[in-house]
Amino acid sequence: MNYKEIYQYSINEKEKFWAEQARQLKWFKEPSNILSKDERGFDRWFADGEMNTCYLCLDHQIEQGRGDQTALIYDSPVTGTVKKYSYYDLRDAVAKLAGGLQSLEVTKGDTVVIYMPVIPEAAIAMLACARIGAIHSVVFGGFAPHELSVRIDDAQPKLIISASYGIEVDKVIPYKQLVDDAIKRSKHKPAYKIFFQRKQDYDVLNGRGELDFSRLLENGAAADCVPLLSTDPLYIIYTSGTTAKPKGVVRDNGGYATALKFSMKSFYNIDPGDVFWAASDIGWTVGHSYMIYGPLLHGCTSIMYEGKPVKTPDAGAYWRVIEQHKVKALFTAPTAIRAIKKEDPKGRLLKQYDLSHFQTLFLAGERCDPPTYHWINDLLQRPIIDHWWQTESGWPMLGIMRGIELLPPKAGSAGLPVCGYDIGIFSEDGTMLDANKEGSVVVQLPMPPGCLPTLWKNDERFRKGYLEKYPGYYLTGDGGHKDNDGYFFIMGRIDDVINVAGHRLSTGEMEELVAMHDVVAECAVVGISDELRGQRPVALVLLKDGAAIEEERLEEELVTLIRERIGPIAYFKNATIVKRLPKTRSGKILRKIICNIADGVEYAIPSTIDDPLILTEISERLKERKIGMAFQ
Ligand code: COA
Ligand code: AMP
Repeated sequence: MNYKEIYQYSINEKEKFWAEQARQLKWFKEPSNILSKDERGFDRWFADGEMNTCYLCLDHQIEQGRGDQTALIYDSPVTGTVKKYSYYDLRDAVAKLAGGLQSLEVTKGDTVVIYMPVIPEAAIAMLACARIGAIHSVVFGGFAPHELSVRIDDAQPKLIISASYGIEVDKVIPYKQLVDDAIKRSKHKPAYKIFFQRKQDYDVLNGRGELDFSRLLENGAAADCVPLLSTDPLYIIYTSGTTAKPKGVVRDNGGYATALKFSMKSFYNIDPGDVFWAASDIGWTVGHSYMIYGPLLHGCTSIMYEGKPVKTPDAGAYWRVIEQHKVKALFTAPTAIRAIKKEDPKGRLLKQYDLSHFQTLFLAGERCDPPTYHWINDLLQRPIIDHWWQTESGWPMLGIMRGIELLPPKAGSAGLPVCGYDIGIFSEDGTMLDANKEGSVVVQLPMPPGCLPTLWKNDERFRKGYLEKYPGYYLTGDGGHKDNDGYFFIMGRIDDVINVAGHRLSTGEMEELVAMHDVVAECAVVGISDELRGQRPVALVLLKDGAAIEEERLEEELVTLIRERIGPIAYFKNATIVKRLPKTRSGKILRKIICNIADGVEYAIPSTIDDPLILTEISERLKERKIGMAFQ
């Protein structure tokens, strides 16, 4: 069957299609109930199936004869380490840590926060939780203690697992101190804090509840996999919404494993035994789905790379890893390719490596802009597949299903709907739009397996944020259109969420922080275009009457505030004082127009604007400060 036929089958006969995919897994009890509604009325997949995701990733692979095959390659240019773990090695470490966690009375349904760099111990911690039915919540290491504390309060973990430090190129990130600081700020106090000591006894661990990761693992009695219901949560992953409170996306076990297994071959064209590399961070969904769970439950070798696309040591780093470990497919963000392009525009470094076994480059996290697409396509001479997904989906929603049919990608497009996703474009009033018309991107319910069933302890926010606007459809928060061939173009968020170097951040949260400053009467934080990072936040600030502060000082203070509260990854560098903010007569700030001015993009002056002269004022201020691509 070709893509069109398989796709139609997945939409027209959903239950049959996904029942067949579920049979590719080894269940403890096969599901007979394929699609049902739970007590809250939300769609659930395989509700009566019993399984364990860690079992599928490790024990089952060993039963299939993969014990001696490499499961993980830890490649860390920042420490000069390459270390391989066979499926046996990984299973044994995971089982022992799981036993260690059980000795601390962690059981099925308990939550565990993980705040670690990209090191194998992070994977071991995640899989150990999965083994005993504990729900992990990995928090990205680039978030500041405040953000970590918010997540600790929401997830209420029994314990937190971290490491003594992380390494950012040549900078040491003191995780132990960050964790201590976060716990000081949080209302909920986890009973234990477990630290992996990257150098022996690097930190003194004699505080209350502080334990050494390696000792806990060494002393742990190997634990068996606990049978779980398909619908039991595997993890919570927090993502930015439009407010300061992040959303705890819940992921189940059975639907997720089914979707990942299906995608490994059908989407990524990866076979058991192949080497797959998701150059992401365990703190993001990509890290969960395609660094850990997807490749392992498909019997692959996965790479954990602790480094950057550039500077560790140079812009040839990715090509070196591909050659050295015989990577078949790489998954990264367009921003990483732009970083490589900036340092090695002619691709000289790439030509030094043998990439003969390399098949496909997959890009996601943000739209791959056509110049980046063409640059890397010309250089690699291999399919470059942009694909679109969200933390909420957990696996691709749009793309070219390379394992089914290698249809030609189109520059700037995120591709065609992936099996299981019935995607449409709606106008504001909920009319389905024809080709080439820009609107809101929606997915018809039920979403396929793997997608979020709800938000952690917040069904109401799930319902309101995703399901209410267009009944019967999931609201993605993205805007875009499709062309006459059915290819979709995802052009950006239509809410207060921005994407900075592939990191999803809330401008709403930044506005709340900026507004906390003593002199600020009102503000707007918008995501303007950035050559390397795609977008970056900028604040326009209106001072309180009578407030006097130099612009540079205010900017400095706000930069420090955002860095301390959200983290350096927000890449917040500019705040500028304005006399007025552009608003509609009903008082809505015209954020999109501010971005257009900064980006030098043409725009129509809306008839609802309060006073069009404000736009000239804003433009002059941005020009004076040289903020935005239009004024460089
Ligand atoms: N822990 C602590 N700090 C972190 C961090 C982490 N895990 N990740 C980033 N930071 C810090 C950086 O050190 C930097 O701090 P600084 O302001 O003190 O210098 C700041 O956050 C901004 O980092 P970043 O945006 O990553 O800038 P960079 O110049 O170091 O690197 C890129 C730029 C494009 C190379 C890098 O952002 C990148 O590789 N992006 C790809 C992201 C990705 O793969 N996303 C996939 C999501 S699916
Ligand atoms: P995250 O939840 O962090 O994965 O971010 C998801 C958001 O990133 C989406 O809602 C999009 O706005 C954006 N995004 C991810 N991949 C793509 C893509 N291939 N094309 C366009 N936007 C993308």
